[in-house]
Amino acid sequence: MLRNTIKFACSRYGLLGVRRHIASLSALSETHQMLQKTCRDFADNELKPIAAKIDREHLYPKEQIEKMGELGLMGLVVPEENGGTGLDYLAYAIAMEEISRGCASAGVIMSVNNSLYLGPLLQWGNDKQKQDFVQPFTLGERVGCFALSEPGNGSDAGAASTTAVLKGDKYVLNGTKAWITNGYEAEAAVVFATTNKELKHKGISAFIVPKDLPGFSLGKKEDKLGIRGSSTCYLIFEDCEIPKENIIGETGYGFKIAMKTLDAGRIGIASQALGIAQASLECAVDYATKRTAFGKPIAKLQSIQSKIADMSLRIETSRLLTWRAAWLKDQGQSYTKEAAMAKLAASEAATFCSHQAIQVLGGMGYVSDMPAERHYRDARITEIYEGTSEIQRLVIAGAVFKELS
Ligand code: CAA
Repeated sequence: MLRNTIKFACSRYGLLGVRRHIASLSALSETHQMLQKTCRDFADNELKPIAAKIDREHLYPKEQIEKMGELGLMGLVVPEENGGTGLDYLAYAIAMEEISRGCASAGVIMSVNNSLYLGPLLQWGNDKQKQDFVQPFTLGERVGCFALSEPGNGSDAGAASTTAVLKGDKYVLNGTKAWITNGYEAEAAVVFATTNKELKHKGISAFIVPKDLPGFSLGKKEDKLGIRGSSTCYLIFEDCEIPKENIIGETGYGFKIAMKTLDAGRIGIASQALGIAQASLECAVDYATKRTAFGKPIAKLQSIQSKIADMSLRIETSRLLTWRAAWLKDQGQSYTKEAAMAKLAASEAATFCSHQAIQVLGGMGYVSDMPAERHYRDARITEIYEGTSEIQRLVIAGAVFKELS
């Protein structure tokens, strides 16, 4: 029903399909504002109250993810004809921030399903793959995952050693994928494997692999510092046979699919980081106005004001970078550098703001009665997954050298 509410409002303002009008980055369209408010209310009412429990108990927030599916958030940019909500990437960035402000675990589950799993299937998948592996994954009842990293390669994504050998009408997969977000719950995975090792990154291909196939099993579920409501685990392929039709795009095009998919994914993680940073700021402001010291609320102390100003500045600059990257993607323009800048700035803002929030709260920031320590733990991963901060700098510098030389 909520999903219909968004759809109704979007149609009413004529923005459901391709017609979009973003007057400026500081003045969101009515559709974007309505989506923002819907997600903010959902985060306040449905996510904030369970965020501490799912973190403490490592629980997958099944009920909330299904409600997010009803809202249309699990296939936000998927066209309506493929079962999605048909909004743009700016909408996705806005929604991701609000959801992550309520619960960073729910945020990453949504992000991986939207950009890393559905994204490549939508762009390079054929009609049958879309029918089988897109539509059923837009409702929140099923989620997908993205399997690129391996125990022996993370940042060096081109060094994948999982193999896919064509035997008759099947590919036979062998290898192990590591650090796979949503791995435990995912009903299907976009998997990258080499079909020709000699060609290095040009020998990598992408496949869609349903979970229930013989030879596909799950390894250890990681015990993590943060985002503990989302699962992270190994995917193990031992002579796992998949129909040869399950290749996504052309043979040998997998590395490009992975890179382009990660460009979009980085906008999602930038938005997740923004949500964590914003939640940290709100927590610090709330505490600073209530806590008194030296005869007045600590909000009156210049040292506290200075922290609030710095946090706010970093959040707003990162938000502009993130929305710019999303906007460029929506315009069909190149956005690799801008997405890397957005992720770098927003993830460092999340780390900074969650650190400063603990300083404002003092001892109360260090205990789990308050959300500040969870934000601090959740923030840390945003500088690591979907490309570390070091990789983002490498991508940015590469683009700058190309532009200026
Ligand atoms: N878009 C399109 N093509 C791209 C591209 C992009 N953004 N980046 C690189 N390419 C292309 C290049 O043009 C080049 O093409 P040709 O072979 O045709 O010339 C090819 O890819 C190889 O490029 P590079 O030589 O630059 O590649 P590299 O091996 O030096 O690696 C890298 C580049 C940027 C370091 C890349 O490996 C990378 O992004 N690493 C980080 C991987 C990453 O983000 N992993 C996260 C794992 S997923 C995750 O975290 C999921 C989760 O669960 C949350």
